[in-house]
Amino acid sequence: MNTQNIFFRFIFIILFSVYSSSISYSKDIIKIGTLLPYSGVYTVLGEEITNAMSLAFDEIGNKINGNTIEIIKGDTEVKPNIALQKSRKLISSDKVDILVGPVSSSVALALRDIVVQTKTPLIIPNAGANVLTDEKCSKFITRISFSNYQINAPMGSWLANQGIKTAFLLAPNYAAGKEMMNAFKEKFTEAGGAILGEEYTPFRKTKDFGPYLARVKESGADAVYVFYAGGEAINFIKQAHSFGLSKVMKLTGAGWTTSPLFLPAQKDAAIGFIGSLNYVPSIDTEANKIFINSYKSKFGRIPSEFAVQGYDSGKVIIEAIKSLSGDVTNKDNLAEAIRTVSINGPRGPLTIDKKTNNVIQNIYIFEVIAGEKGPELKVLDTIKAVKAPGKKCNI
Ligand code: PHB
Repeated sequence: MNTQNIFFRFIFIILFSVYSSSISYSKDIIKIGTLLPYSGVYTVLGEEITNAMSLAFDEIGNKINGNTIEIIKGDTEVKPNIALQKSRKLISSDKVDILVGPVSSSVALALRDIVVQTKTPLIIPNAGANVLTDEKCSKFITRISFSNYQINAPMGSWLANQGIKTAFLLAPNYAAGKEMMNAFKEKFTEAGGAILGEEYTPFRKTKDFGPYLARVKESGADAVYVFYAGGEAINFIKQAHSFGLSKVMKLTGAGWTTSPLFLPAQKDAAIGFIGSLNYVPSIDTEANKIFINSYKSKFGRIPSEFAVQGYDSGKVIIEAIKSLSGDVTNKDNLAEAIRTVSINGPRGPLTIDKKTNNVIQNIYIFEVIAGEKGPELKVLDTIKAVKAPGKKCNI
């Protein structure tokens, strides 16, 4: 063989191997199915989570180890039966590798068995239903958001220690509303507080909070403790303000009620509300500043805790798949890789409790104050490294 021939053979082998490796990469698609609300009362939450998760993927050019990330959206409509139908499609027809969702606790409870039975790793970017990281926990379910207990129990002790002696509870009538009020009640009464009454408003249907506000006022409690989100949070805060409730008692509750996502609509009506959350935009870290800037430049506003939960879901997916060198074929390995990730994100260090698969994180107690550019959350206290109890779970 002459030198020219050897040279051409050599070039051919190189070109062929580059070509074949590009084929094997380009046909490998990592499919991420979302089960989030893109219609109904929690639409803005679902969109915020999806936007921020896409931002995390955009930052790495939408590829992990050469595999292209594809997001396939499933709209839960905040309805358990619809979400279950959509999950069947995503799992059986689309053959997604990972599911991300949902927002609502009732929807999460409906999805639990199908993801466990089909061994489809589920990353929960919001829904707080306690049992999913307690008696119904599974290594295929990793929650990077919060448990309903984790956010609300600290508020029970904190408000009682601030001298609030009596409270009235108000929340939507579904799993999350009940669990949040129970967590608050447990710690508030343990610290010597008394509950003077509680009301649960029809979920997704209540537009007029007038009759409830009247009963809250009549109770004569020191504080009302509420949970609302989405359209319900906006309506509740505006109506409580017109009603003058803050003139007779303290407005307190689960912090989503005055999330930075709803503040632009609630405006000054939210001022004075005291709540707790797993993220506030004022967290003074490099990681948070970078995140806020890139979120702002892409979406034109500051991110909320829902955005952080979506962004962290994206980051967890990226790190988990990288740790497997891009191989997502073995679902047991994938689930294990997801729960082993620890990242330093906008809310600070994020680790997953190995016993329950629920995130361990700081809880921020804040007050809504009038800032230069409108209402903002001022941190009053930080409760460090809060875990969800999950006594009946041992993964
Ligand atoms: C829930 O249903 O678990 C839920 C929904 C919205 C929130 C928080 C929790 O803001």
